[in-house]
Amino acid sequence: MFAVHLVAFYFTKLKEDQIKKVDRFLYHMRLSDETLLDITARFQAEMEKGLGKDTNPTASVKMLPTFVRAIPDGSENGEFLSLDLGGSKFRVLKVQVSEEGKRHVQMESQFYPTPNEIIRGNGTELFEYVADCLADFMKTKGLQQKKLPLGFTFSFPCRQTKLEEGVLLSWTKKFKARGVQDTDVVCRLTKAMRKHKDLDVDVLALVNDTVGTMMTCAYDDPYCEVGVIIGTGTNACYMEDMSNIDLVEGDEGRMCINTEWGAFGDDGALEDIRTEFDRELDLGSLNPGKQLFEKMISGLYLGELVRLILLKMAKAGLLFGGAKSSALLTKGKIETQHVAAMEKYKEGLANTREILVDLGLEPSEADCIAVQHVCTIVSFRSANLCAAALAAILTRLRENKKLARLRTTVGMDGTLYKIHPQYPKRLHKVVRKLVPNCDVRFLLSESGSTKGAAMVTAVASRVQAQRKQIDEVLAFFRLTREQLVGVQDKMSAELEYGLKRTTHALATVKMLPTYVCGMPDGTEKGKYLALDLGGTNFRVLLVKIRSGRRSVRMYNKIFAIPLEIMQGTGEELFDHIVQCIADFLDYMGLKGAQLPLGFTFSFPCRQANIDKGTLIEWTKGFKATDCEGEDVVDMLREAIKRRNEFDLDIVAVVNDTVGTMMTCAYEDPNCEIGLIAGTGSNMCYMEEMRNIELVDGDEGKMCINTEWGGFGDNGCIDDIRTQYDVEVDEGSLNPGKQRYEKMTSGMYLGEIVRQILIDLTKQGLLFRGQISERLRTRGIFETKFLSQIESDRLALLQVRKILQQLGLDSTCEDSIVVKEVCGAVSRRAAQLCGAGLAAVMEKRRQDQGLEHLKITVGVDGTLYKLHPHFSRVLQETVKELAPQCDAMFMLSEDGSGKGAALITAVAKRMQQARREH
Ligand code: BG6
Ligand code: BG6
Ligand code: GLC
Ligand code: GLC
Repeated sequence: MFAVHLVAFYFTKLKEDQIKKVDRFLYHMRLSDETLLDITARFQAEMEKGLGKDTNPTASVKMLPTFVRAIPDGSENGEFLSLDLGGSKFRVLKVQVSEEGKRHVQMESQFYPTPNEIIRGNGTELFEYVADCLADFMKTKGLQQKKLPLGFTFSFPCRQTKLEEGVLLSWTKKFKARGVQDTDVVCRLTKAMRKHKDLDVDVLALVNDTVGTMMTCAYDDPYCEVGVIIGTGTNACYMEDMSNIDLVEGDEGRMCINTEWGAFGDDGALEDIRTEFDRELDLGSLNPGKQLFEKMISGLYLGELVRLILLKMAKAGLLFGGAKSSALLTKGKIETQHVAAMEKYKEGLANTREILVDLGLEPSEADCIAVQHVCTIVSFRSANLCAAALAAILTRLRENKKLARLRTTVGMDGTLYKIHPQYPKRLHKVVRKLVPNCDVRFLLSESGSTKGAAMVTAVASRVQAQRKQIDEVLAFFRLTREQLVGVQDKMSAELEYGLKRTTHALATVKMLPTYVCGMPDGTEKGKYLALDLGGTNFRVLLVKIRSGRRSVRMYNKIFAIPLEIMQGTGEELFDHIVQCIADFLDYMGLKGAQLPLGFTFSFPCRQANIDKGTLIEWTKGFKATDCEGEDVVDMLREAIKRRNEFDLDIVAVVNDTVGTMMTCAYEDPNCEIGLIAGTGSNMCYMEEMRNIELVDGDEGKMCINTEWGGFGDNGCIDDIRTQYDVEVDEGSLNPGKQRYEKMTSGMYLGEIVRQILIDLTKQGLLFRGQISERLRTRGIFETKFLSQIESDRLALLQVRKILQQLGLDSTCEDSIVVKEVCGAVSRRAAQLCGAGLAAVMEKRRQDQGLEHLKITVGVDGTLYKLHPHFSRVLQETVKELAPQCDAMFMLSEDGSGKGAALITAVAKRMQQARREH
């Protein structure tokens, strides 16, 4: 008995002494709770720095957005390929995620070696090797015929701007292949795969192993929102609120952030806790100065730290009687698996002896105890540091959720965590101590990152399928050059029909003579009244023209025309107009003045003279009764008479295109085309009298109001009309009429957009499949909103705000789609307009027998003026389709009122000249 006690006493004493000795020697490696809390606080600050847009470039903890936005919800399914590269083992896998709603995953996998000459050789060869392994796997599994989506687990820091792309920031751990840094690794892999003709694989997702681990665990436990790897390297990811991620647009929901915490301390933030051993290890590594936190923690470095400590202790005579072996002097001879074996609860000491003997040393009992304790200190420090950083993440999650207590699950993986006997226990304990207000469940990922990567890929593949559906819809709006040339040719034909006496009656492009024959010559002068009715605003104007100086002064007032007047009776409409004139005269102090008046009336009128215009039919938003077939000048005169307050001399009735052309021609006599791209769409131009069969005389030119809005009313462009155009037409005030206008002008573009959005929503591709009341409301997308949404300067969040103002509760993804839809619709509009304009310009060029035509186009209309791209696309199209015409586009700043006044002035002069004769 006594002897046994004595031995036990002796052993305890020996152990105590050795432990004390090592503790003293490694004093710096033992971190107090206080220090750990301090590290937690430092890491919190690092996370903040990495997330900030301005601070990220200099942050060492990169906090990389992963574009993984949600944890699995169980609806994922399909068959996927997976690569898992960057941990201790390289694997290729096939993953089958269950159909039929049951959560079930089947995996088949194969390991492939990663020799140093591959992972530290030429980058292109590395990816070719990976592709070779994939090809081999597909062959052995008989998968060659299948086209499968692939999820690429790549466990290195990558900057992503979308899920299927990632630029390698730097190699870490054992990898150092040349020429890969700063390139997109998905692109590199895809390129390498192209060498295999039978390989038809789509890389849909690039995931870090932490993300894969989190997703794997979240498939079984929906509380899982953190993934941690403690393996060859160490790292963590977690779900961050979008509103905190400056680097990614959008603020709703969450996104997984790959912290790349291994780089914590690379800016010197951990110098106070780093030891001489850490420094020595770093200097001998593949990436000196980098991944300093990782080098204190992860499996690739733990054994080496122990070796460096043992060597120093031996050198100091504190171990092995001062003896060193050549193995002990050799880098990498002690590995993490050795550290784990030495720390085993029962066999640990025996293992230690064996390992030391294998290293060519002759350890005493005391040496073994001391060495074992060195291992404990090193691995304990590792667990402590991990715990400190993890505590920061957990605190952040709790604060983001504004909870007093957080319940959460952390998905775990990595060989150190898995094979080290004490590691998990220690880590969990410290975490719970550091964040007592978090109930943390640690869940080991049994199946690696791949299952999670497959979940991400499944979601990506669903998104891709949806994308395809959206693209299919928008494809109808993407016109080919041939289609545009077709439109141009048909427009040319219609222009001719409209001008010819025999075909005019049936023509859809009416080509109305305006009796405006000359351009202002600068001698015009006097005071004129003008009305401007039919665009977005109704105006009454006073225009003072001063002769000689080509200068005009204008005073105007905008009046509202209520919907019930626009669509009431003709008498009410004209009475309202006269009422507005009366108000204006009053306002200008001109009561009783008898002024000549030019009436801009922006609807198709058949004219027999400059002051006679019979309304053919209403267009756009007007539908007042008893006007069609009537002379609008007469109607206005009668309304003035009814009021019996003042008299006006109505000299001219003018279409807005004509007014616009005149406004611009006053400055630039070469302006012989007037274009309106506004509420409606129309164009006028100066035509040779000899071509206008409806009007006698062959001398000179006359302006023709084409009324091209009616182009296509005979079905000639039905091949490019979409179901959405048909729906917009059917819901309009004039079904079947103005088909070209309905594809090109502001009043209808928003409606087309709305119809597409309704359809996409029905298909479940937008607004969570819910068609709101607002979306059902006709006219919600006015031109101004369309223009705002498409502005390049606008961030996604602002687009979303506009949609919200419109009452459309959209996510950021929805906003992207809406913006795209707007873009497709407005682009088509501009191109169609351009094709029409090209037809007219070509006609003018050919009629004059010119090699090159130089012409100015006066333009007006809110679509042209406000939309960020319309004018550019229009001009590009014209250039493309009419290359021999050189068009100068001149924006009419003053509206058509000025032009109408000028026309009135000219008409008045001619009237007087006739009288004098
Ligand atoms: C594996 C994962 O289980 O763990 C890998 O599938 C990951 O994606 C690895 O990289 C990390 O551990 P280690 O120890 O292999 O680096
Ligand atoms: C104005 C003109 O500037 O533009 C009007 O003065 C014209 O005559 C109008 O009808 C066209 O644009 P919108 O967008 O107002 O229909
Ligand atoms: C390294 C890598 C990181 C990875 C970790 C674990 O730290 O940089 O991306 O997650 O190792 O494998
Ligand atoms: C409509 C009208 C037309 C007008 C155009 C632009 O197309 O019919 O007369 O020029 O809108 O306002």
